[in-house]
Amino acid sequence: SDITIAVLVGSLRKESFNRRLAQALVRMAPAGCKFTMPRIDDLPLYNQDDDAHQAEAVLRLKSEIAAVQGVIFVSPEYNRSVPGVLKNAIDHASRPYGTSAWAGKPAGVIGVSGGAIGTALGQQHLRNILAYLDMPTLGQPEAFIQAKDGLFDANGGIGEDSRKFVQAWLDAYLAWVKKHS
Ligand code: FNR
Repeated sequence: SDITIAVLVGSLRKESFNRRLAQALVRMAPAGCKFTMPRIDDLPLYNQDDDAHQAEAVLRLKSEIAAVQGVIFVSPEYNRSVPGVLKNAIDHASRPYGTSAWAGKPAGVIGVSGGAIGTALGQQHLRNILAYLDMPTLGQPEAFIQAKDGLFDANGGIGEDSRKFVQAWLDAYLAWVKKHS
């Protein structure tokens, strides 16, 4: 049966490498698998006072996550951690207490940055959060992608050097989702 996976991007930047990576992943979806890309750029800053009447954008995100069988986080690291915009989205959809949209959804973590170890520490912080949220998260293979010329091909796909690696990561993640469904 068909599965749908949400791909969340931790950068709001128009030319974001992580958004381009997410879009390349979406295009690699095998038959029987669909991807959605929920937006997080219109969420208010999380404020616990609003838990009883969450904003439309928050309710939308929660229902988009509720509707999928897994979540891929494609994110840069900011100052060796999770970008605030992504943490904000995670916090929103985890509330009110007891109604988290994340619980039980198998997760995958991947990211691209300019640095050689780019996103490794940010991913580790994210894994800590996902563990608390009860999201079984693919451990291996890890995917720390370095942004360099040729990472993307002319059509927005993954360039030759990294295509096999990213495809293998995606295959492992989708097998992880099946294992947990
Ligand atoms: C960064 N960048 C960065 N890179 C990295 O490898 N480790 C880090 O800790 C940080 N910290 C950091 C903080 C802030 C506030 C910014 C704006 C940037 C660089 C970052 O990897 C680079 O800007 C990427 O291009 C961001 O990803 P997107 O927007 O291209 O997806």
